[in-house]
Amino acid sequence: MIKLGDKEVSNIGLGTYGMGGKTLPDYKNDSGEIEAIKYAIKNNINLIDTAEYYSGGHSEELIGKAIKDFNREDIFIISKVWPTHLHYDDVIKSAKASLKRLDTDYIDLYLIHWPNPKIPVKETLDAMDELMKNGLIKNIGVSNFDIGTLKEAMDNLKNGEIIANEVEYNLENYYIEDDLMPFCESKHIKIIGYSPLNHGKINNKIDNISKSLGMTKIQCELAYLKKKSIPIPKASKIAHINDIVTSLNIDLDVNEYNKIREIIRK
Ligand SMILES: NC(=O)c1ccc[n+]([C@@H]2O[C@H](COP(=O)([O-])OP(=O)(O)OC[C@H]3O[C@@H](n4cnc5c(N)ncnc54)[C@H](OP(=O)(O)O)[C@@H]3O)[C@@H](O)[C@H]2O)c1
Repeated sequence: MIKLGDKEVSNIGLGTYGMGGKTLPDYKNDSGEIEAIKYAIKNNINLIDTAEYYSGGHSEELIGKAIKDFNREDIFIISKVWPTHLHYDDVIKSAKASLKRLDTDYIDLYLIHWPNPKIPVKETLDAMDELMKNGLIKNIGVSNFDIGTLKEAMDNLKNGEIIANEVEYNLENYYIEDDLMPFCESKHIKIIGYSPLNHGKINNKIDNISKSLGMTKIQCELAYLKKKSIPIPKASKIAHINDIVTSLNIDLDVNEYNKIREIIRK
């Protein structure tokens, strides 16, 4: 477990893009998706990532249903406001609509999904500050921000801190390790790594090392990524979730970590 805001969260979360549809709601697998989210929570994955954009809001509805059997305080929900909704009133409206779909009183971490250069980030952050004051969100963060846009956001936040930046990070796209990651580390901003499994395209470079470590390739990937980020793989299949759950307790030592780092950079 690691600390995020005021809560202890699992060092791997659950992504939900694609559950309940892609950009539009698709209700046909609802019961299976709800069971998958519940299964992940029961097996100690308590951080769940969603967004108003995902399946036109239906991903949030599925999460709202899945968390009903659990203590809300034990779960950490991330949601995001879409870049066309970053004017002050729109942010408030989006957050309230997300809360309604999630059927909960607060979002643990609310992110600006993508920067929008046409809307001053200060306006968006002022609205997020207001949401925080009213207890509707507990923490503020960003997603897909580079060092420049992140610095601008940090300079424009009146109260509190940007606690996380959610960006793509996997064994094919690891370039943040060279610049954004050290910058975030120096500012105590957590990296939440999206598409950690490169959309399910398994990396063959780690074939031998994962075997020699006695892990599946997915476990090896996640063990590597979670050293310096919180990966949020999306999985609907129980067998896939089991792989992820096993990864929660794998801790690579420095030599193993460096070896994998070397292999993926070849
Ligand atoms: N902030 C952003 O802009 C942004 C952008 C993209 C994604 N995200 C977030 O990041 C999450 C994850 O990223 P992603 O959905 O793009 O892709 P991903 O997590 O890299 O890959 C998901 C795919 O991997 C499969 N998978 C999961 N566990 C597996 C296992 N053990 N063995 C084999 N395959 C496995 C899943 O299959 P099944 O589903 O069939 O189990 C799914 O097809 C998203 O769901 C979303 O929450 C955020």
